Amino acid sequence: MPLKLILLLSIFLLSFPSCYASKLTPQKSAIATAHPLATQAGEDILRQGGNAFDAAVAITAALAVVEPYSSGLGGGGFWMLHQSQENKTIFLDGREKAPLAAHRDMYLDEQGNYIKGSSVNGALAAGIPGTVAAMVKLAENYGRLPLSTSIQSAINYAQNGFKVTKHYKRMINFRKQTIRQSSAAAAVFLDNNEVPELGHIIRQPDLANTLKSISQHGNDGFYQGPVAEKLVEGVRQAGGIWSLEDLAAYKVVEREPIQFKFQDLIIYSAPPPSSGGIALNEILNILSLYKLEKLPNSQRIHIIVEAMRRAYRDRAEYLGDSDFVNIPITQLTSPDYAAGLAVTIHPQQNTPSSSLAGYQHPSGGNDTTHFAVMDQYGNSVSATMSINYPFGSGFIPPGTGILLNDEMDDFAAKPGVPNVYGLVGAEANSIIAEKRPLSSMSPSYIESPHGTALIGTPGGSRIITMVLLAILELKDSFNPQDWVDLPRFHHQYLPDVIQYEKAAFEQKLIDALQAKGHQLKPVNEYGNMQAIWWDYKSGQVNSASDRRGEGYAKSFKVQ
Ligand code: DON
Repeated sequence: MPLKLILLLSIFLLSFPSCYASKLTPQKSAIATAHPLATQAGEDILRQGGNAFDAAVAITAALAVVEPYSSGLGGGGFWMLHQSQENKTIFLDGREKAPLAAHRDMYLDEQGNYIKGSSVNGALAAGIPGTVAAMVKLAENYGRLPLSTSIQSAINYAQNGFKVTKHYKRMINFRKQTIRQSSAAAAVFLDNNEVPELGHIIRQPDLANTLKSISQHGNDGFYQGPVAEKLVEGVRQAGGIWSLEDLAAYKVVEREPIQFKFQDLIIYSAPPPSSGGIALNEILNILSLYKLEKLPNSQRIHIIVEAMRRAYRDRAEYLGDSDFVNIPITQLTSPDYAAGLAVTIHPQQNTPSSSLAGYQHPSGGNDTTHFAVMDQYGNSVSATMSINYPFGSGFIPPGTGILLNDEMDDFAAKPGVPNVYGLVGAEANSIIAEKRPLSSMSPSYIESPHGTALIGTPGGSRIITMVLLAILELKDSFNPQDWVDLPRFHHQYLPDVIQYEKAAFEQKLIDALQAKGHQLKPVNEYGNMQAIWWDYKSGQVNSASDRRGEGYAKSFKVQ
């Protein structure tokens, strides 16, 4: 082929990169979520004629009821949508916003010191929630069924209750002191103020009523009227700063995903106010300069770690809510910038983080939640949702059943003071009224010539590197269970240490990495990834739920 033709063809392909799947439809539907009852709610909706977006509403609402430590109507999240017919990928931003009365130093005392726990526990820690607005948007703009149909299972779960599991017990045990400060929360989540036994039934009648109000009135059933009034009254009585204007003004935002190529993959991931897409793009740009598959294992891990280190440094310095701060996205995601960074990676020696200019950063936990759903038409949703810390702020405004988030802690309360995940941020992530706190949640939609992948997970700052490792594994395996089960490792610039699950590194590898100057720290297993793979050749759709959690994944035919 003449060079000119090749060039023209490549320009054409690059301008229409998302075309691998456009003429195909999967043979099945698939769902992966962190709780069997949420998977069930999604399946029921697909069987009632709903599409992936309706199922996403059902799953979001169900998780809000049965995984109260992870996400909820009092929290927020990101929903990555793919419309098959239009071949469009849209990022729905339902992240919490700082209240209008919030200000930069709101968690500092008169001496300018951070007041311990103030952005984590209780009403002052809560941002204005976005999950309800996102569900309404999904139902009205993308779904086929009424919102009332899609959230009916959640209403039933709230009324009839769900069983306490081992994971529930671990989470409530961790947060019980804070929960006891809120009588409405203690009444629901504890049993006589104590950690409930396995199998104990958690019923949430107030939450069922709030869901019914949303079912009848949509956004107005939550952001206006009696529910809004009770939310604001409860928050203010407990020392918070919400107003009715805050709730009335909340809007979800549709944003362009961060879209980029890595080898033959086209990756769509989360834009600001998440740091995920930019960090993944930066890391994969660096890694594309190496033939990773040809390197000995220790060398391969060394290079991946050094790429992680550099991207997390930039995250700490530059990233925040792009509606409020200018982020040099073009520079951070450009191949030239990655090439410049790659030159600084010594093949045999670690780069101490202290030798890089800049700021400090985070660590992760085990709450928050992710789900993936694909319908038989190829529409899909990959969504990560959160109330931040386990059981969020621990506070329920009386009469609402709404457990509030503590997402305000994802802001840098004070430069240099770490948040609950050990995160330190820069000015880009300081508190301003109506700003969204910087997130690491990275729900991703990925196309390859062989299929479509949906990938995401909770895990605080480690979310980004978990998604990264899954993408690298996708280059070797089309079985989503392999991406999800993969033992994990992580570096986040500061602390300057490689965190790893014990199964990830054998002793020889540890020795080889230490010889390059790396510090290593074994950590407990982390993350709760949910993933789907639609294979174009076989038409099969496979889903996988992390063995580390209590989730349930399945594929099924809808007649
Ligand atoms: O938005 C964020 O990045 C955090 N609030 C997510 C927290 C999280 O994943 C906690 N759990 N493991």
